[in-house]
Order: sequence, then C-alpha cells, then structure tokens
Amino acid sequence: MARHLITSAIPYINGIKHLGNLIGSQLPADLYARYLRGRGHEVLFLCATDEHGTPAELAATKADKPVAEYCAEMWTVQSDLAARFGLSFDHYGRSSSPQNRALTQHFAGVLADKGLIEERMETQMYSHEDGRYLPDRYIEGTCPNCGFESARGDQCDNCTKQLDPVDLINPYSTISGSTDLEMRDTKHLYLLQSKLKNDIEAWIDSQTGWPVLTTSIAKKWLHDGDGLQDRGITRDLDWGVPVMRGDAPWPGMEDKVFYVWFDAPIEYIACAQEWADATGGQDWARWWRTDKGADDVRYTQFMGKDNVPFHTLSFPATIIGSDEPWKRVDYLKSFNFLNYDGGQFSTSRGRGVFMDQALEILPADYWRWWLLSHAPETSDAEFTWEAFQTDTNKDLADVLGNFVSRVTKFCRSKFSEDVPAGGEYGDAENKLIADLQIRLTAYQAAMDAIEVRKAAAEVRAMWAAGNEYLQAAAPWSVFKVDPDQAAAQIRLALNLIRIYAVLSAPFIPTASATLLSAMNTMDMDWPDDMDAAARALPAGHPFTVPENLFAKISDEQREEWVEKFAGSRD
Ligand code: MF3
Ligand code: ZN
Repeated sequence: MARHLITSAIPYINGIKHLGNLIGSQLPADLYARYLRGRGHEVLFLCATDEHGTPAELAATKADKPVAEYCAEMWTVQSDLAARFGLSFDHYGRSSSPQNRALTQHFAGVLADKGLIEERMETQMYSHEDGRYLPDRYIEGTCPNCGFESARGDQCDNCTKQLDPVDLINPYSTISGSTDLEMRDTKHLYLLQSKLKNDIEAWIDSQTGWPVLTTSIAKKWLHDGDGLQDRGITRDLDWGVPVMRGDAPWPGMEDKVFYVWFDAPIEYIACAQEWADATGGQDWARWWRTDKGADDVRYTQFMGKDNVPFHTLSFPATIIGSDEPWKRVDYLKSFNFLNYDGGQFSTSRGRGVFMDQALEILPADYWRWWLLSHAPETSDAEFTWEAFQTDTNKDLADVLGNFVSRVTKFCRSKFSEDVPAGGEYGDAENKLIADLQIRLTAYQAAMDAIEVRKAAAEVRAMWAAGNEYLQAAAPWSVFKVDPDQAAAQIRLALNLIRIYAVLSAPFIPTASATLLSAMNTMDMDWPDDMDAAARALPAGHPFTVPENLFAKISDEQREEWVEKFAGSRD
C-alpha cells in the first residue's frame, strides 16, 4: 500500500485564520488524511505556521510585541485552534524552526554552487519617513496588471499576479502611509528560474490528472513567461532566515534575510525533520528523499488558488534546481475562494467568521460539514448564515441525527439497550445493503480523486438511504405484528450507525467518535464488504442512546449571529 505524504499550505502567523482560509487548504487536507488513514494507509500529514516576512513583523508591531515572542504566542493559539477543529496533523511545525533555517541555507548554498543564484543590484523603495527599505507588504499601490488599487508589493489579491514592489503604480508605505519614497540601490540574491524553465515545464507537462484549476494557473504563468522570471530571494528585513551560503557567511548579505516565499515551502521538508526530532526515532528521509525510500510515497499538496504559482513553479525551482533527490509533489489540489455574505473574508479588515469565534458558537463538526460540503472547487463559493442554518439543520439534524435518535430510542423502549436478536435480513434490507455498497464505491472514488463536494454528497446520500429505509420499513408498526422482523430491521439500523460513524469520520470526527462510543465499539474497520459490515454488531451487543448529537440552529440564533458578525472583528 502506498504511503501518503500530505501537506497543507502553511498559514501565516499573523492572526487567527478565518473560515475561508480553513476550507482553502487545512480542512480538505485533513479530510483526505483521515480518509486515507481510515482505509489503512500510512499517512504523514504536516502543517506549520509561516512565520517570516512582513506580515509577521507588521502584526507583531501592531500587537506591540517582539516578533519572536509574537510568533511563539500565535503558534500556540493556532495550534490549539487546529486541534479543536480536529485537524489531525502529525506535526504542526514552525517555519522559524532551526531545522528550516539550516535547510533553507542549505538550499541556497546548493543552488549557488549550481550557478543558479546571482547577486544583482536592485532598486528598492526606501521610505524616508520610516527610515527603512519597504519590501513586499510594506508597500501597496495600484496593480500594473489589472488596476486594482490596493495591490500588495508581492502579489495582487485581485488578479493573483506576482509583483515586485517597484512595479506598483502610486506606491505608498503601509507603515506610515507616506508617499515620500525613494528608489535606492541594494544588493540582492536572484534565483535564476529562467534557466530552469524547460525542466519545470517538462515536469508540469508530465503530470496528468491534476485539477484544471491547478494546471491552468501553472500553464498561464509558464506561457506568459511571467512566473519563471529570475526572482529575488532576499529581503532587507531583520526577521527571517539569515542569508548564508550553507554554513558559510555570504559576503555583503550580512543584514539580509531570505524572502519568506523562499523559506516557507522548504518548511514542508523541515517540518518532517521537526516531526522526526519531536518523536525521536521517526525517519523523515523515507518521506522526503527518493534515495531513502520516498519513491513509494504519494505526495499531495493542498492550497488556495493564490498559492498555486508558488507551488507549481517557485518551490519546484528550488527542488529541481538543487538536483538533489528530493521527493516532488504528485498531486496539487487547489481551491477557489470562499466569500463571506456578499463580500470577501478579510483578515486585515476582520470581516467574516474566524476560527476562534466559530468554535464559541458551535462545535467544529457543524463548520467542518458545511465548509467541506460547500468546498469552493469549481468556482468561488459563498458562506451565508441562511445557507449554513438550512444545510446543517437538514443534513446533520434531520437526516443523520434523526436517524440515530429514532433507532436507538425505539430499540431502548421496545427491546433493550442491546442489539436485538430475532428475525433475518430480507429483501428490503439486502437492497439497502446493495445500495450502500454502490454508494461506497462512489464515495471512495470521489475521495481518491479528492473531489470533496462529491464525497460529501455520497455521505449525505448514504445517511438519507438509511432514513428512507427506516421510513419504509416502519419497525414501529411492524413491531405490533411481527417483533422478530422489527428486531432484524433495528439490528441493521444499529449497524448502520457504526458504518456511518466510520464513513463520516473524515468529515465529522467528533460526532463520529460519539456514535462509536454510543455503539460501544472501537471497531473502525472500513466497511469494504457492506454485507459483513451490516452484521458487525451482533445480537446482544450493548449500546447507549447518544443525547443530542446535533441540535438544530434556531432562527433566533441565526439572527443573533448575523448581527454579531455584521461588523468587523476589532
Ligand atoms: N502562508 C501562505 C498563505 O497563507 C502559504 C505558504 S505555503 C508555502 O498564503 F508553500 F509557502 F509553504
Ligand atoms: Zn492585479
């Protein structure tokens, strides 16, 4: 069986993530990791905080804290929220780790040895009022590509074009707002991506079956020539990985750090090293070095569409350019954006629902289910409170919750809190089992292809099939005339609860654990054979009635939340 390496784009450290961030990478990555583990695969699922660069510095300044301290605190906050959302990372690392520092410097050294790094004099914005150079995000201005007025120095949020701060029209300092900017000469390192263009293009062309969203973005950058221009990989900042050539100093670069987008993806590898160090005895190389067994690994990356150029071009340039036997990504799953109630989620403007706030009002499974079943795969999607209320009430409370409650309560009142004996599965039961077997195949196909919405639809259909069966079988009527047949019907229904718990666990892990414990079993075996799975809990097996699996969201609650989240966070 293949081993699976899974990484989610590593979230910026600068604050708590909103639900749009969550569904753009971490949550679907978790879904896939849980699914693969459920099917018995060996999985290494990694994520980390992206701690360098100007977003971190700006946020620390705003919080009035030294940047290292700010990052350490925010790492704890983010890692705690991730755990409470059920994100099952094997390790949640930090791009500021010593491992990443060493590895980033290693890559720079190797790339320089290969003649792929060049020192260039560059013109950079110097702000008189701020007394410093203004890289990346310290500058905003009008996008030369699309005319968007608050394009950042490194990328336009509107058209996703990667930019250099000097490209911006009418630039201003985001620290002081000052437009008193001067272009000054400063020496920087450039990665000669243009020399790697053919190799990268050949690699991308050799990938079949990537999502259209991923390849179309990658191809666009390749064929515009844009994404593969030589790229500055150093910055005039204090906070970051110091520029070194491997272990050796880099003359003239003493006050500079690597550009955050150079070191951040390298953290995917460093994170495995952190994991190995933290667990003591794990072997990171068998996941990342093709000379150490990683050829057996299938590597899948998850990210939002704005991240695609960095993962299809920039990071591969680092890996391919090094000519070392690093594992390359096999599949890149990318997502469109989730919007919030007629606009965008926005961290800087505090617009939308943030992970901490979400958990204050409802358990993680509500959010997980809604977000995953509305994952922005083929186009941007929109969160509205109305849709959220309607869909979760229907799917979770009316369909799944209601099934569980009716079945367990009926059994308790008419039989006992044991799986009832008597009767046998007949045509209706066998038809349901056969239907579920077909659905299971479709569910697995969707999950294997990481078609998140489709997979959710199959899970929902399996819940609904149980409900429809119960409605048609009507054990409450049958019981009066043929208690044995009613017992068989309920026996199947109780077994379905365990099957649902197993199959739904990637989406709603907490509810799934509640169901398993109510069914008094640790049997998480994947129901490959529905016929057998439908009999896994035998007559006499004790269970308990789970209380309030999913409470419905009331209109009052919805109105309160609409109100509460109408303004900005601060
Ligand atoms: N921090 C970036 C973002 O949130 C993602 C970095 S992903 C990596 O958009 F490739 F750099 F690791
Ligand atoms: Zn633009």
